[in-house]
Amino acid sequence: MPTNSKPQGLFVAVDTPCLPMAKDMITDIRGVAGGVKLGLEFFSAQGPSGVSALTQDVDLPLFLDVKFHDIPNTVAGAVRSVVAATKPRVLTIHASGGAAMMRAAQVASVETADELGVAPPAIVGVTVLTSLDDADLDRVGQKGPSLDQVRRLAALAVESGLAGVVCSPFEVAVLRADLGDDALLVVPGIRPSWAAVGDQKRVMTPAQAQEAGADIVVTGRPVTEAEDRRAAAQRIVAEMSNTG
Ligand code: C5P
Repeated sequence: MPTNSKPQGLFVAVDTPCLPMAKDMITDIRGVAGGVKLGLEFFSAQGPSGVSALTQDVDLPLFLDVKFHDIPNTVAGAVRSVVAATKPRVLTIHASGGAAMMRAAQVASVETADELGVAPPAIVGVTVLTSLDDADLDRVGQKGPSLDQVRRLAALAVESGLAGVVCSPFEVAVLRADLGDDALLVVPGIRPSWAAVGDQKRVMTPAQAQEAGADIVVTGRPVTEAEDRRAAAQRIVAEMSNTG
């Protein structure tokens, strides 16, 4: 069975519902970025066939950020469907769905990849959405500092067989220490020093996140909204390799 080494580097978030627009963005970053992240906006508009139409002819690993969260049987079915249809390199599910859900997703992905003769995706767990602060968490019945919940869910994700977690740049160092070198840490909330912060609240530069222990650094608009997308992606990759 083919296996995956740990995916790394700059993954560009392509957040648009529009297939031609997404194609333009991907064409611009081909050969520079380490991969492309497609999320719910593109997936809900274009479906799995839109994802494969976009990625099948380009040699860019796909991070499919669809954050599945349901009962284990349903998530396992959804994982089978997207793995078969889109062959992602990285796939997200919610760690708060619990151990049985994560295990079912992991088993479904390995079985499906095996049947297809491809490498299974690295499934990573979403712990606590960074849009929620401690007061929001309190209102949904979750007491205590959010970092405690992040660490608890990250440990559960890895114990349940996932490759790692998605986390904020400010959680990377503690999660790297908790989970060890093998865990895959995928980090959005990234802004190069020369780019607009926009609606992101707490950001790090790509190089800072990498130094803190990030494997995959995710950024979108600093590249997709740049006048010269390729140059913006090249600049980020150069900054990251300088930290080596
Ligand atoms: O354009 P920007 O760099 O802000 O895009 C970041 C991407 O990472 C978006 O697709 C966003 O949904 C995602 N993301 C994030 N923060 C999280 C989780 C995911 O910005 N905590």
